[in-house]
Amino acid sequence: MVESVESKAHVKFPVSKLSVGMFVTSIDNDGQVAITNAGQIKDREAINKLIKNGIKYVWVDKERSADSCGFKNTVQPPPTVKKKAPSREASQQKAKKLVTEAKDLLAKVLSETFEGKAIEVAPFEEFADNLIDSALLDSDALKCVSALRTKDAYLLEHSVNVAFLLITFGQHLNLDKQKLKEMAVGGILHDVGKIQVDDKVLHKPGKLSQEEFEHMKKHQNFAMNIMSKTDGISQISKDVCLMHHEKLDGNGYPNGLKGEELPLHGRMSCIVDIYDALTAKRCYKDAMSPAAAFKVLLSLTPFHLDEALVYQFIRSVGVYPVGSLVELSDGRIGIVWHAKGRDALHPILKCFYSIKHKRYLDVTFVDLLKSDANIERGISPCSLDVDPAPFY
Ligand SMILES: [Fe+2]
Repeated sequence: MVESVESKAHVKFPVSKLSVGMFVTSIDNDGQVAITNAGQIKDREAINKLIKNGIKYVWVDKERSADSCGFKNTVQPPPTVKKKAPSREASQQKAKKLVTEAKDLLAKVLSETFEGKAIEVAPFEEFADNLIDSALLDSDALKCVSALRTKDAYLLEHSVNVAFLLITFGQHLNLDKQKLKEMAVGGILHDVGKIQVDDKVLHKPGKLSQEEFEHMKKHQNFAMNIMSKTDGISQISKDVCLMHHEKLDGNGYPNGLKGEELPLHGRMSCIVDIYDALTAKRCYKDAMSPAAAFKVLLSLTPFHLDEALVYQFIRSVGVYPVGSLVELSDGRIGIVWHAKGRDALHPILKCFYSIKHKRYLDVTFVDLLKSDANIERGISPCSLDVDPAPFY
């Protein structure tokens, strides 16, 4: 049976191939669809009449056609709903392992640094290489893993995320692999100085007082000291670590660098650090949705952040970043699951909940290129009354 264009239960069908029993819903004249003469074809004469009138195609409803037409076995479930995930079990597991190993490595190095031991760069370079390879292989899997906030120590999670976000951002800007690697090493080590911040200040569940903030700022002075003792670390890695709190107008710290004194990778680190902190849930604040965080980033331009770069960053992670949550026009909630090779507004979603009916749904994968529903808005996991974590 020849089928030209398919749409859910309807199929555009050449008149020359029609048979008795098919249910015609409309005629198609060079793309102009007219809904006339809808009904089941009772005899050959009806088909001949269509041919005589110069009609080449009609739309046939497969489900309402007679069994003898052979459609019933070929009717597909609506293409918007797939029970099975696009296969990426393996890459997701690999990404999880990589992130866990990186956190373990950082935790070990942080405690050694606390004891006064110098940092060995090689294991971080190996991690950066693996991270870049995984990002090239299946960036969506890695994005989902890093978007899932666990209850791990914030510092570890934030550090791995900053490294990964720098790679995503750097790839978008076509930076070479060596530079991506050096930025990732800087990213994972960027807050290493916090190991020497007073625990009471570091873990304070609330806003810091002015005095506490001044103490917290010292993590960058501690970092300068640590970096100076780290053999073999590249200048770019050092810059990412030491510049992520600088501001374009010179009001940042630790060095009050200004304008051109801040190279591209330094400016990138400022953007990425703030974005990840805003979208993380902390004991004293909810996580922001990516859209809300983008707004904050833009509000910090041009005095603090580089405006053109902020726009590039938003483009690199996407308006609806993979791993983030969105609400559809029909009230379903989904995780942005797959976006590679698609336009920003039409990713594949993993839907698991209805905000309208306040209940879980069977997990379905919704391809927005084929669905009537569209994204209403990006949401923060905190705005949901259920936990999305089991669906990652
Ligand atoms: Fe920092």
